[in-house]
Amino acid sequence: MSNEDLNAKVHFLPHNITIEVSKGTTILDAAIRCGVGIRSICGGKGLCGKCKVVVRRGKVEFKRSELLKSEEIEKGYTLACLAKIVEDVEIEVPIDSQMGRPKLQSFVTLPKTEPKPYISQKLFIPLDVQRILSAYNVPHKLKAKLFEILDKGVGNLYAIVNEESKKILNFDVVGKEVYGLAIDIGTTKIAVTLVDVLTGRVIDTASDFNKQLIYGEDIISRIRVALDKKNGLKILQKAVVETINTIVDALCKKHRISKDDIYIVSVAGNTAMTYLFVGLDPYPLIKSFKERADVAKTPYWLEARDLGLNVNKNADVYVLPCAGRFLGGDVIGDIITAGINFSEDPALLIDIGTNTEVVIGCREWFIGTTAPAG
Ligand code: FES
Repeated sequence: MSNEDLNAKVHFLPHNITIEVSKGTTILDAAIRCGVGIRSICGGKGLCGKCKVVVRRGKVEFKRSELLKSEEIEKGYTLACLAKIVEDVEIEVPIDSQMGRPKLQSFVTLPKTEPKPYISQKLFIPLDVQRILSAYNVPHKLKAKLFEILDKGVGNLYAIVNEESKKILNFDVVGKEVYGLAIDIGTTKIAVTLVDVLTGRVIDTASDFNKQLIYGEDIISRIRVALDKKNGLKILQKAVVETINTIVDALCKKHRISKDDIYIVSVAGNTAMTYLFVGLDPYPLIKSFKERADVAKTPYWLEARDLGLNVNKNADVYVLPCAGRFLGGDVIGDIITAGINFSEDPALLIDIGTNTEVVIGCREWFIGTTAPAG
């Protein structure tokens, strides 16, 4: 059988994007593959009715759904998540079904604090080499680089060090800029702040929609995709990483910074976003409330290269710990940033987002909860 028999072309309007997919693929899956944003609150389960599209040319295979009125069906409307492509088609995505692009609020003013970064740049002399090797964990490839530098008979040896994990992240013969990223993974958008780690200077913040949105707009739909779809967890993790890489790329180009000079990445998100970023099975987050959900309350240290982040290949990734099933590392970050953990008197903290968190507390105690708001 030829490809023509197995595949069909889908042309999306008003995007003017065409993709070839195998017959039997849903319109929503075809849209996801070519980056056409169609709203899908229920994550493609045929329950929300937000993915209505119009078949302008060709035919699709579609079982009737009570989410479509008979007048809509007459006009060619169908649900993108349920309609299967059986021949070449032209699909119009009406404005109400398009993933919107509202203005993203990402400007922040942080209180002035003395930076105490885990990452530092140390100056050694070649005679220190044994001390370096016994005090720090030096990855195999960096050991080779170290001896290459020493063979050249240089006078100074600069090392970029993670003091928390006692790991060497790079060697060089000259001192370099050292940058870090602070990332807030929201259910709807992801914000990335670029920081000069050695001085604590905040260089810029940029944000974009979380590419996971096409798999459902709320947390429960995303978790269902992670649990029910083949490789769902990997797909969602990749979507977040791709979003971060796109933002980092833009920030680095704008400020003429090499991504290779980014050595530390700090990440915070609600508990579900944290699980999906780290690649943890999110089932404990949605099991019956009568059952105990053991959410790990410790931070995660990951390697940027394992996640596919486009920063220095030896960079470390620190993920803020979650406080519980509904209170994630984003709330921990809020509390620390606002300084409530040092407050004598109780203070109220509200983080309004797709998921909204409310915390009351002081340096002695905290109580908090969360609810979907967007
Ligand atoms: S009905 Fe919800 S995505 Fe199609």
